[in-house]
Amino acid sequence: MRRGKYKLVLFSFLLICATALLLPTFLAAQKKAVDDEGHQWWQHAVFYQIYPRSFADSNNDGVGDLRGIASKLGYLRWLGVDAIWLTPMFPSPQVDFGYDVSDYENVDPQYGTLKDMDALIADARRTNIRVILDLVVNHTSDKHPWFIESRSSRNNPKRDWYIWRDGKGSGQPPNNWISDFGGSAWQFDPKTNQWYYHYFYTEQPDLNWRNPAVEAAIFDVSRWWYKRGVAGFRLDAVDTLFEDPNLADNPIVAGKKSKYGDPVDDRIYNKKLPEVHGALQRLRAVADQYDAVLIGETWTKDINELKEYYGEHGNELHMPMDFMFTRVDRLSPSEFRRQIAAVDSAGGWPVFVLSNHDIPRVYDRYGDGQHNDQIAKLMASLYLTLRGTPILYYGEELGMENNDPKRVEDVKDPAGRRSWPQDKGRDGERTPMQWNPAENAGFSKATPWNPVDPRYRQYNVETEKKDPTSILNYYQRLLALRHSTRALLDGNYIPLNESDPNVLSYLRSYKGENVLVVLNMSSSAQPVKLELDGKGVTATTLRRLLASFDSPATGSAKDLTVPAFGAYIGELK
Ligand code: GLC
Repeated sequence: MRRGKYKLVLFSFLLICATALLLPTFLAAQKKAVDDEGHQWWQHAVFYQIYPRSFADSNNDGVGDLRGIASKLGYLRWLGVDAIWLTPMFPSPQVDFGYDVSDYENVDPQYGTLKDMDALIADARRTNIRVILDLVVNHTSDKHPWFIESRSSRNNPKRDWYIWRDGKGSGQPPNNWISDFGGSAWQFDPKTNQWYYHYFYTEQPDLNWRNPAVEAAIFDVSRWWYKRGVAGFRLDAVDTLFEDPNLADNPIVAGKKSKYGDPVDDRIYNKKLPEVHGALQRLRAVADQYDAVLIGETWTKDINELKEYYGEHGNELHMPMDFMFTRVDRLSPSEFRRQIAAVDSAGGWPVFVLSNHDIPRVYDRYGDGQHNDQIAKLMASLYLTLRGTPILYYGEELGMENNDPKRVEDVKDPAGRRSWPQDKGRDGERTPMQWNPAENAGFSKATPWNPVDPRYRQYNVETEKKDPTSILNYYQRLLALRHSTRALLDGNYIPLNESDPNVLSYLRSYKGENVLVVLNMSSSAQPVKLELDGKGVTATTLRRLLASFDSPATGSAKDLTVPAFGAYIGELK
């Protein structure tokens, strides 16, 4: 008996030692590099953002769903997509269309079931596509059981999971903070005579990240999904995780009003507090155990802020989104040059986003009304040839444009109703995906929750696939080129002709392989005299890889003319 016990202890001891010795090797092996330079899968991947309500409706109720997404995996693979990011599909009262989560570990019945989610992850894996979810970390829905408990009494154990404070006086909120969607960021709750804080809608109370139990709960949610096979998260609204514990008033910017008619506050006490970084680094440590990737919704205003989100030791977010790029709202080579160079020098792996469910589509932002198709190809040629991971927003590959509501009574996005007519909200960039020229663009047999862009008969997958000059076929060829060209994946970014006001030119250079990208951002043809001296390239013969206009298969780098809004990608040999 005693001898048996001794053996058991010895065996356990050896097992612990072996685990301790082998675990790091096991974890390192898990982080499989995709090349000899140690790049990770997400560095060579093309991500595609799906707004589940609007992608494909399998049960014809007018709202997209998970089975709909699963039915389109073949299309995504054909296009060249390696990972899909689904905006929130968790149970939600849908005040903010899913960004008000009432249960982090389930699927909203509108979108399907957990079984559908498991099937989607498995089907995607078979198709070689990874699935990324959207983790809403800053707040929950006011219908989340955590908040229901929290608001039930001042001494409920979950009270401190949210931010509750006394008002300054009768009817006076605790301070002057303003919600991002208009009005005070505080809501009075008569039941307990206190105010709760909500950076976004009233129905989205902020979690209290100073409470370790909250952090642990969210980390557990991430583990729960990793175990189901998700490959990472896009982290929603991380800038606003922490607030000043003393609730100091934000300074008010004199003489300005927001689109909601509020004073404009400089959010120094409730945005980008240093504590954010510790929390994200700990969340990263959890992600690392599952070889998962973390993408941040980080509205960085400059490179220093971007660097902080990568973490001093690269131990925070793999890919803080670079929205600085989306702020360049005109076709300005010098502005793009400046942003690209800055991001490229930040020391982390860049990520490029041009539009999303909060940002109007490329077609509208850069289109001039006459050359919109060329401009769509031009912009594709920009963000898909840079050093970094691109995130495509569904439908950009078709040249979908915003279909903004025409009447305030049609607006679905509550923020859009508040800011009408100055800003029409975000419905316009969330319209149904256009699959074919049939009714409702083949998205659904029922009336879609949000109207389809009327141009769908021309701009849809089926029609565009048949047209070799379509935006869709251009995207597909560009993605294929990107995947098969090492210089486009890993090459250095070398700007060329930096004082050219019309044409943005650069090289992507990898061990003697030089790919040239020339983007004419002007409305007239431009002869481009490439200044290659001192750029480490001697070759001057150009072999066309892809161009958005007719151009010879080979030519000279000294003699290149690019038509209005034309894009040229070639190899220097
Ligand atoms: C993020 C989302 C946006 C949402 C907000 C509040 O900014 O992208 O759609 O409204 O967070 O959750």
